[in-house]
Amino acid sequence: MKHTDILAPLDVELQKVRSLGGSMSIVVIPQRYADKALGYKRAVDTAVSMKDYLVVGLFNTQASEASARFLSLPKGIAVYPQDGKEIETLFFEALERLRFMGTTPWVKRLWDSIKDTRSSEFKDDPESRFISSTFYQFLAFLAAHPTEMKYLLKGSDNPELSWVMDYLPYGHGNTGESHQNENVSEDDITALVQSWHYQEKMETKSEKGKNTLRRFRNIEHLFTLPSISQEIIGLAGDTLLAASKMAGIIEKDPVLTSRILKVVNSAFYGFHRQIDSVEQAVVILGNDEVINLAFSIAIHKILETISPEVAKRLWEHCLVVAHLSQWLGPYMGYTNKQRLYTVGLLHDLGKIVFLQRGHFIGGFAGPASLEDLAGEEIDSGISHAEMGGYIAERWNLPEAIVDGLMSHHLPSKARDMSLAVTVHLADVLAHCGGIDLAKVNSAAVSYLSERKGPAISQDELSQRAGDIVQRVKTILET
Ligand SMILES: [Fe+2]
Ligand SMILES: [Fe+2]
Repeated sequence: MKHTDILAPLDVELQKVRSLGGSMSIVVIPQRYADKALGYKRAVDTAVSMKDYLVVGLFNTQASEASARFLSLPKGIAVYPQDGKEIETLFFEALERLRFMGTTPWVKRLWDSIKDTRSSEFKDDPESRFISSTFYQFLAFLAAHPTEMKYLLKGSDNPELSWVMDYLPYGHGNTGESHQNENVSEDDITALVQSWHYQEKMETKSEKGKNTLRRFRNIEHLFTLPSISQEIIGLAGDTLLAASKMAGIIEKDPVLTSRILKVVNSAFYGFHRQIDSVEQAVVILGNDEVINLAFSIAIHKILETISPEVAKRLWEHCLVVAHLSQWLGPYMGYTNKQRLYTVGLLHDLGKIVFLQRGHFIGGFAGPASLEDLAGEEIDSGISHAEMGGYIAERWNLPEAIVDGLMSHHLPSKARDMSLAVTVHLADVLAHCGGIDLAKVNSAAVSYLSERKGPAISQDELSQRAGDIVQRVKTILET
């Protein structure tokens, strides 16, 4: 019997997909895993048996999803239309990939599968970037099984695996050799991962994430970025901006103007002389400082959607993180002070939406732990970090800001680690009054140790944090 005859049922499905303009994954799995594989197949998918292989066609499915569905099974995947247009081409492509995969160790295959699901194909669907960028529940699950983690990563200087560590809090899986490892086998880990039901949980997360974003769009009018802040953000980076031009923009808004003058004349800045125009404030404080101040005051409006008491606490925290980020940035190799301030100020923007909607938020009293983020994800499908990134994108803020917000708890995900690490550390510092390494992400700790920048002592950190908290309080009292 020829290949084409056996593949005929899949070809029929492919014709349908082609006429609908959809996609289809062809997955080739060794026959000895066929029973397991059939258990993970959905009713709409078609499977055919060859001598040595099971070939499954997954309707309207991209590679990442197909990979997650057959997590931990050896497989080769080819996707219509990217990898080929004919069923036979797709089959041979998938078979070739299986042969390549077949030679790699089991553990690496598992991580490859997991890694696939985090690199979302957001070209087709821009929102999936916010929904599937991280799977906190799975990371929390790994962190809760340090013995198995150590086994998985044992003896692997493999950079392909080390990224897992970057996502975990400092101290997980890297605390030296453990004798317990000897009791763990590959089968134990397979059973553990299977029992966690990765695919089902991923599907639930995606569904909830989509709903959360959809519901946000229904209340989006409550969260519009005041137009003046758009203008102010537009001014950032214009180093030659004249004080008069800048003052002209701000003075269009009398409420903003009077608030700025109040703060400028408060104990926060400690000037003895009365400053009575925005232009004068710009001359004395500089463009950046006045832009930051105006932006903070303008953005404060969105806090009116939540209870005043919670809003006050959150606002104080955000201002402290903004100022601490500005101070810490240069030590971490990031010098755009404007951006440090904005990302610091907005880092927990997503929490405002969650609070407004009555969703669970983690880490109000301390920096959000992996469990807190997983809790948010279980409730909303995404964490406050992704929610914040999504809002910033809807506001058309620069990509660096969107990325900074998204990665403030997992800096290794960031395009610019120096910015993300800075805000991450500023957050810990704001909450703890010092840098408690147990509350810091592993990647941030390695970033710190690899960076040969000037060191800051714990005393200096605590002192600066205390000082900024005091100064921010004076702004809030104004
Ligand atoms: Fe946060
Ligand atoms: Fe925070």
